Amino acid sequence: MSILNKLNDLFIDSKTDLLVNKRIILRVDYNVPIKNNKVVDPTRIINSLKTINFLIEKNNDIILLTHLGRPKTEEDKLKYTTKTIFNFIKENNLFNCNNFEFIEDINIKIDYKGRNIYLVENVRFFNGETKNDLELAKKFANLGDIFVNDAFGSLHRVHSSVAGISNYLPTYFGLLVKEEILNLSKLLTPKRPYLIILGGAKVSDKLNLIKNLLTKCDKMVITGAACLTLYKSLNFNIGKSFFEETDVSNILNNNLIILPTEFIVVDNIDNPSYKIKKNIKDIGDNDIIVDALINEDIRKAILDSNTIFWNGPSGIFEKGYNEGSIEIAKLLSESNAFKVIGGGDTVNFINSTVEYKNKIDFISTGGGATLEFLEKETLDAIEYILKLKTTI
Ligand code: 3PG
Repeated sequence: MSILNKLNDLFIDSKTDLLVNKRIILRVDYNVPIKNNKVVDPTRIINSLKTINFLIEKNNDIILLTHLGRPKTEEDKLKYTTKTIFNFIKENNLFNCNNFEFIEDINIKIDYKGRNIYLVENVRFFNGETKNDLELAKKFANLGDIFVNDAFGSLHRVHSSVAGISNYLPTYFGLLVKEEILNLSKLLTPKRPYLIILGGAKVSDKLNLIKNLLTKCDKMVITGAACLTLYKSLNFNIGKSFFEETDVSNILNNNLIILPTEFIVVDNIDNPSYKIKKNIKDIGDNDIIVDALINEDIRKAILDSNTIFWNGPSGIFEKGYNEGSIEIAKLLSESNAFKVIGGGDTVNFINSTVEYKNKIDFISTGGGATLEFLEKETLDAIEYILKLKTTI
């Protein structure tokens, strides 16, 4: 049975009678980019509003749980406090509720008031969250009556606030999870030819994923710094460019993979005295490759496909090297394929190009979760929760 069928009667819009006048614990994924204690891209917050409005209209209280970043030290607590998100939501008046409060202490009792929203401090500040500690999960559960999981971007994590909490509360899934699964499921039975474009910096943590996805697609473009690791293994000179010392022999020479051949090179990433276009065969010892461009093979693959999934920019786009990504976005806008984009950096990029963004059929809020869903056709936290449902 597909995951969509398994979840069908667990989405909140099929439980309208149950979800009224309750204290709902809503796990969201507000792991948003933050710079100087300000939210830079609120896409994930905006995408949670559908579920929040649905629950508030039914006079529920909402206790929001989320992680932010990967805090390790005490200093990280200043950087990753969810108070930053709380302030952003308040300043922009995003919630249509009676009161919106911030909670640091999870040992308190929250009395039902109706249409109140609370945002709890970063769940990763509490010991045991990432180990799915059930004592912690129970503490989170004590804050409300029902658990709704709408944190699509975190569903590949079996953590206390994502999965363990379901041991203690009736559990349902939100409207964002529904929309994500509905759209991403279309990539599991794609209209062919199906093209996957993978970019970003790293290939080492994606090797298994790439191997697996190669069995599902008809062509794969590997761009970004990830393709430089492949070129390095093929003994090309990539100058002083970033690459990883990792064994890519498993995926090299797969005839479904298309690599870019033209690149933008500089001598200094932050302050270049030259910025030129070069073929991979002409890269000099002092060159640094900062962006991969589109060649005829890639262009043809994009225009010939009926389904396209894109994850990972072609270059160091946060430093302004985005020519290749713009070329991909432009070609996608010309293609009639069903087009899906996933991954934080790619979504940030496409959000900055309104004319191309509107031509994308679905923009996933997930990064790792989206890739894992395409690989495994399910997600670990969903499986954990479904298993509890069948054993309760
Ligand atoms: C993400 O941004 O991909 C999710 O929020 C998960 O974050 P994590 O990789 O730190 O668990």
